[in-house]
Amino acid sequence: MKKTDSDDAPRPDAAAADGRIAAPAAGERSAPLGVAVVGAGYWGPNLVRNFQSSPSFRLRWLCDVDIARARKVLGGYSTVAATADYAEVLADDEVAAVAIATPAATHRDLALAALEAGKHVLVEKPLAATYADGQLLVEAAERRGLTLMCDHTYCYTPAVSKIRELIRDGVLGDLHFIDSVRINLGLVQRDIDVLWDLAPHDLSILDSILPEGMEPVAVAAHGADPIGAGRACVAYLTLRLANGAIAHIHVNWLSPTKVRTTMVGGSKRTVVWDDLNPAQRVAVFDRGVDMSAPEELGAQARQQMLVSYRSGDMTAPALTEREALGAMVEEYAAAIRDRRPALTDGRAGLRVLDILEAASRSLDFQGAVVGLRGAR
Ligand SMILES: NC(=O)c1ccc[n+]([C@@H]2O[C@H](COP(=O)([O-])OP(=O)(O)OC[C@H]3O[C@@H](n4cnc5c(N)ncnc54)[C@H](O)[C@@H]3O)[C@@H](O)[C@H]2O)c1
Repeated sequence: MKKTDSDDAPRPDAAAADGRIAAPAAGERSAPLGVAVVGAGYWGPNLVRNFQSSPSFRLRWLCDVDIARARKVLGGYSTVAATADYAEVLADDEVAAVAIATPAATHRDLALAALEAGKHVLVEKPLAATYADGQLLVEAAERRGLTLMCDHTYCYTPAVSKIRELIRDGVLGDLHFIDSVRINLGLVQRDIDVLWDLAPHDLSILDSILPEGMEPVAVAAHGADPIGAGRACVAYLTLRLANGAIAHIHVNWLSPTKVRTTMVGGSKRTVVWDDLNPAQRVAVFDRGVDMSAPEELGAQARQQMLVSYRSGDMTAPALTEREALGAMVEEYAAAIRDRRPALTDGRAGLRVLDILEAASRSLDFQGAVVGLRGAR
């Protein structure tokens, strides 16, 4: 089962700080933004619940081609309107923003129509079904000065915020490796492989924690379909980062046990995030390996010298408990109001698509290393 977690405040963005984006008009801050959710399937109701409990938004519509599903989600007493007609939503001047929680193949057309109608757009992950479609959306939003945001939910968890902070503050030192495992008995999807289903989570987390100069530059992917599903059900991605460090992601629909662990290893400390351990989700280890040989020595001379093992303390930082989707929804409102890119803006969605497409190409060529476009 897919799950979400809780979160604290996301980071402010440089684009707002450097004044490239205009300040909001007076009075614009206080009025709740009219919003419509499109898609009332598995994930849409979570958006509905969070928009309804947000003081920044007023939910006006829930739209689904299956109107009975939309009505069921809203219940009998809701003042929110249900519709199967998307045009009706877009024609509503009170709707300033839409949130799209429909299958990825529909994201491009639904998001583009909303942007053309002058609405801000939040799209569920992945941003679109292809990089080209994602690029179309990013350009359309930028041309119109509208917010385009991708719901990379995990980026809003307290754990990811803490890891981002530990990296930014230099607590981990230089980053050496990242290892992420997301495996369980998962729903075998009909339209996408395990890579496109689960890896967007790990890739978006990487995108939100890695500092500049450490962007992924190439990917190699291996996958297998041992049950004959017609698509990879198990996949391993190896990413080469700009500073020479390595990141590895393991996603699997066939694992009898559930594992959600991300490890970020640095020259000073290593952080381990176990999302299934609420008592100690994040642990920071002052343990590692130091080379006692001086850097100036050649590789052979260094190898002959002893490595030393650090075995210091483990600390478990306290994390706030807050639903990640709630923080994501508030970030959407803040990005619209402050006219700044969101923490997980359209370009972040595009960078994830870049890696997913390259990884799919690599899968087709038995793990060949594929370079990335590196969209920033
Ligand atoms: N952020 C997360 O952690 C997370 C978790 C699960 C799913 N998702 C994403 O949410 C999206 C939806 O996934 P889901 O599992 O809810 O799918 P789903 O199939 O359960 O629901 C999709 C709904 O969209 C409706 N729909 C389809 N086309 C439509 C259209 N053109 N107009 C209006 N309604 C339409 C369907 O009738 C259905 O009710 C996907 O992009 C998925 O990747 C994100």
